[in-house]
Amino acid sequence: MKYHIVTYGCQMNLHESEKIAGILREKGYTEETDIDNADIIVFNTCCIRENAENHAFGNIGALKRHKREKKDLIIAVGGCMAQEKGKAELIREKFPFVDILFGTHNLNELGALIDKKRAQKKRVFSLKEEREETEDGITPVRTGYPGAWVNIMYGCNNFCSYCIVPYVRGRERSRRPEEIVNEVRSLAEAGYREITLLGQNVNSYYGDDGTAFPELLDKCASVEGNFRLRFMTSHPKDFSEELVKVIKKHKKICSCIHLPVQSGSNRILSLMNRRYTREKYLEEIALLRKEIPDCAVTTDIIVGFPTETEEDFQETLSLVKEAGFASAFMFIYSPRTGTRAAVMEGQIAEEISKDRLSRLIDAVNEQTRNISAGYVGKTAEILCEGYDEKKKMYLGRDEYGRMGYFADDRDRIGEFVTLRIEHANGISLYGSVVEE
Ligand code: 5AD
Ligand code: SF4
Repeated sequence: MKYHIVTYGCQMNLHESEKIAGILREKGYTEETDIDNADIIVFNTCCIRENAENHAFGNIGALKRHKREKKDLIIAVGGCMAQEKGKAELIREKFPFVDILFGTHNLNELGALIDKKRAQKKRVFSLKEEREETEDGITPVRTGYPGAWVNIMYGCNNFCSYCIVPYVRGRERSRRPEEIVNEVRSLAEAGYREITLLGQNVNSYYGDDGTAFPELLDKCASVEGNFRLRFMTSHPKDFSEELVKVIKKHKKICSCIHLPVQSGSNRILSLMNRRYTREKYLEEIALLRKEIPDCAVTTDIIVGFPTETEEDFQETLSLVKEAGFASAFMFIYSPRTGTRAAVMEGQIAEEISKDRLSRLIDAVNEQTRNISAGYVGKTAEILCEGYDEKKKMYLGRDEYGRMGYFADDRDRIGEFVTLRIEHANGISLYGSVVEE
């Protein structure tokens, strides 16, 4: 019996798919890379923007014929879109060949749902409203060697007005600090070289014994071993001096922070319910750069939020320059049913948003190119994470998140490799190995 998992969305989902794989392995399934040969196909969905949903619907719909030909095939749909209000009904109606639907709070039930489906003809749909527990007891099948993800918390309490996450992931629940530190320790002992702590808003982590995020990070970075530590995502409203001190204190913690700004206009930030101003955001960056001058800052930006004017957008462009982002994820605002922004007046026409997005991408790319060009002639230490078959080169990232490529006859995956950078192309660096 073979499984195939299709994952959409963020790192949280990628890690959750590793847990889904853990459940399926436990049930005796083995992985199958070709979707046509699988006995169970699991879609781990995302609903952050409309196009993520359309993509999933398209791929689920495409299985209709396949299911007709292969009657025993089990198709399961889980993740954020499954949890979204009204979507279970829609899937029930439009996709009668979907056998199992499970929400974000039902992950640890998946094994039982599969048993149930195997025992009966009827479809099995299971959705819980909330989940209290933070330990799911599932051993993930890790797919990211030399990298590994560790959840530190689930859910979000922030209710940014555009965002559906609090509705589909529930309220914030922090895992116990010792569970997290133990997981980090066992990953380090198992030879993982890059550990990423995951949460929707890591800065509001709060352990049962009162441990706050900087303290947790400090504990994780104090674990012995040859590994790097990253964390995401930070919210600017909870960013603190203590956090900066901890990043500075530990060599293991990458000098790189993902700090989504979303907009450079105070008026839009307030409508987004972000609870910080442009000025506060820039002060945080200034503090970070004062303490850790080489620290890379990456961000998320939304264009075309309801009522956004050209002037608001210009403020975003100027903030991009002032903040000196190393890179950015940039999105067109996508109305999500049930969120406050979806019913706001002043929704922006798509052509305007598209035009703003392309100007924003140009501005960010220019900075990204300049930073990459600054590497030429210098050395960079990258953690080799894979091999690019097309380029016939190994690849990996430096601590700032910049991708470096190099050729080598030996297998270097999982090693820290020093490169002399010979040329740069957009966000990527190309170099040769500096032998130690
Ligand atoms: N439309 C566009 N982008 C969104 N994001 C979250 N919700 C929306 C939405 N409705 C973006 C934010 C967030 C990132 C993960 O996705 O920038 O930081
Ligand atoms: Fe969404 Fe805001 Fe929570 Fe991030 S902090 S998940 S953008 S509500």
